[in-house]
Amino acid sequence: MSSMEGKVIALTGAASGIGLATAKLLASRGATLSLADINAKQLEAAAKTLEAAGAKVIYTVVDVTNRSQVRVFLERTVKEFGKVDGAANLAGVIGHHAATLELRDETDDEFDFVMNINVRGVFNCLREELRVMKSGASIVNAASVLAVLGQVKNSIYTASKHAVAGLTRAAAKEEGKNNIRINGVAPGFIDTPMVTAVEEAQKVQKADMSAQAFQRKGKPGEIAGIVAFLLSDESTFVTGAIWSADGGWNC
Ligand SMILES: NC(=O)c1ccc[n+]([C@@H]2O[C@H](COP(=O)([O-])OP(=O)(O)OC[C@H]3O[C@@H](n4cnc5c(N)ncnc54)[C@H](O)[C@@H]3O)[C@@H](O)[C@H]2O)c1
Repeated sequence: MSSMEGKVIALTGAASGIGLATAKLLASRGATLSLADINAKQLEAAAKTLEAAGAKVIYTVVDVTNRSQVRVFLERTVKEFGKVDGAANLAGVIGHHAATLELRDETDDEFDFVMNINVRGVFNCLREELRVMKSGASIVNAASVLAVLGQVKNSIYTASKHAVAGLTRAAAKEEGKNNIRINGVAPGFIDTPMVTAVEEAQKVQKADMSAQAFQRKGKPGEIAGIVAFLLSDESTFVTGAIWSADGGWNC
C-alpha cells in the first residue's frame, strides 16, 4: 500500500458510491482532495465528513458535460493546492431506463443523456486535466466490465463504457511521451445507488449476478483500492490498462 501523502487528487462523482469510497480511502492515505459532483447537497456532506476526519479538501459543484465548469474545477484545484497529481473521473449514469429496454426500443433522449455524461464527461475531464498535469501524473477513468462485454437491455450504457475504454487507451498512447498515465477501472456489480436503481427499475430484489464468479455485489471500497493503486507510485509502469474488478465476470 502506497502513501498518498503530498499528492493532490481531483475526483468527479465524489458525492456517492465508488467516488465517495475512493475519496475516503485516498484521504486516509494522506492525499489532498478536490471533489466534484453535480449533486451539491451530497457533495457538501461528503466534503464535511472528510474534513471532520482530518482531510484537506475542497469541493466544486460541476456538471461534467460542461467543459467550462470542468475547467473552473481544475483551475481552482491548482489555485488552491498548486498542482494536480492525479484524477479519478468517476461521474457516470446508468440512464433513465436503468437496463430495462432492448436497443430496438431505446430513445434518442436516452442516448444523448447517457453518452453526454459518460463519454463527453470523461472527454472533458481528460482534456482539462492534461492541461494542468505534469510528468508523473496519473488519471483513472470509470469504465466497466461493460467496456469489454455486451449486456442485454443495456446497449447505450455498454456503448458509453466501450467509448471510455477507447478514450483511455488512445490518450494513454499519446501521453506516454509526457510521462502521464491513463488507465480505466472495470467494475462488475458494485453495491451503490446506481445498482439499486437498476434493481428497482427491473423490480428484482437482487441484480442477476449469475455471470460473476462471486455471487455477491462488490463493495465500493473494493473498487476504491484499485483506483488508489492506479493513482499511486506502485503502478508507474501501468498505462492504457482497463483493470478488471468484476468478481470474475469477464474471465
Ligand atoms: N456500481 C456499479 O456496479 C458500477 C459498475 C461498473 C461501472 N460503474 C461506474 O462507476 C462510476 C461510479 O458509479 P457509482 O456506482 O458509484 O454510481 P453513483 O450513482 O453512486 O455515483 C455517481 C455519481 O456521479 C454523479 N454524477 C452524475 N452525473 C453527473 C454529472 N453530469 N456531472 C458530475 N457528476 C455527475 C452523481 O451525482 C453521483 O454522485 C460510474 O461511472 C459508473 O458507470 C459502476
